Amino acid sequence: MRTLWISTWTLAMFIVRFTLALVPVKIRPFIIPKLVEEGEKVQMICGLEKGNGNVEFQWLKDEIPIVSETRWTIVTHSEFSVLMIDNVKVTNSGNYTCVGRNAAGKDSHTAVLSVQGPPTWKETPTDMEVAIGESVVIQCSAHAFPTPSVVWTKNFKLPSDTAKEDIQSFVDSHGTLRLDDIQREDGGYYTCVIENGIGSPLQKTIEIKIKGKSV
Ligand SMILES: *[C@@H]1O[C@H](CO)[C@@H](O)[C@H](O)[C@H]1NC(C)=O
Repeated sequence: MRTLWISTWTLAMFIVRFTLALVPVKIRPFIIPKLVEEGEKVQMICGLEKGNGNVEFQWLKDEIPIVSETRWTIVTHSEFSVLMIDNVKVTNSGNYTCVGRNAAGKDSHTAVLSVQGPPTWKETPTDMEVAIGESVVIQCSAHAFPTPSVVWTKNFKLPSDTAKEDIQSFVDSHGTLRLDDIQREDGGYYTCVIENGIGSPLQKTIEIKIKGKSV
């Protein structure tokens, strides 16, 4: 009976000491290179500044857990975790968070990845038919970094052409062209050009046809 009591006590002390010795996780802040270009490889290394025992690591992009797949590889060791991205894209830009946790607590660190690349279509404008008096909203946008400029022109006029009908004042910061109370003379060809100084610009010309019989 006495022996059993002693061994129970010893076990309890062992558990208490072990628990007290567990240091909460503290992640060492990591940085991502400032200038990353599309097509490159990127590695993020999330290591411990403090913490022991069984540490679990997790990676998130814009708060959504990342699963290891072909272009994303996560290699985890007891003291660190590495996230590797192969052939990085502009769309991979975002906030990357590494979370580390053990039985004593958790910590996380977030770093921003900005990938520079030429524009690729997000919303491509298409031809449309509009009735007089209606409004049109035409989107023209791309995935690109740095943020591209979106310029709309009408009827193949060059931006240098002084006679050009200035429709840029109807374009918002997202490159969306909005024309209200459409009139017959608004019919014609509209061109949208997206560029950010990297690679080739994107360009699309559409036709706005006015519905109904001619006046
Ligand atoms: C990244 O975090 C910053 C600061 O919290 C936030 O303003 C931004 O919207 C985030 N980006 C994304 C893509 O969630």
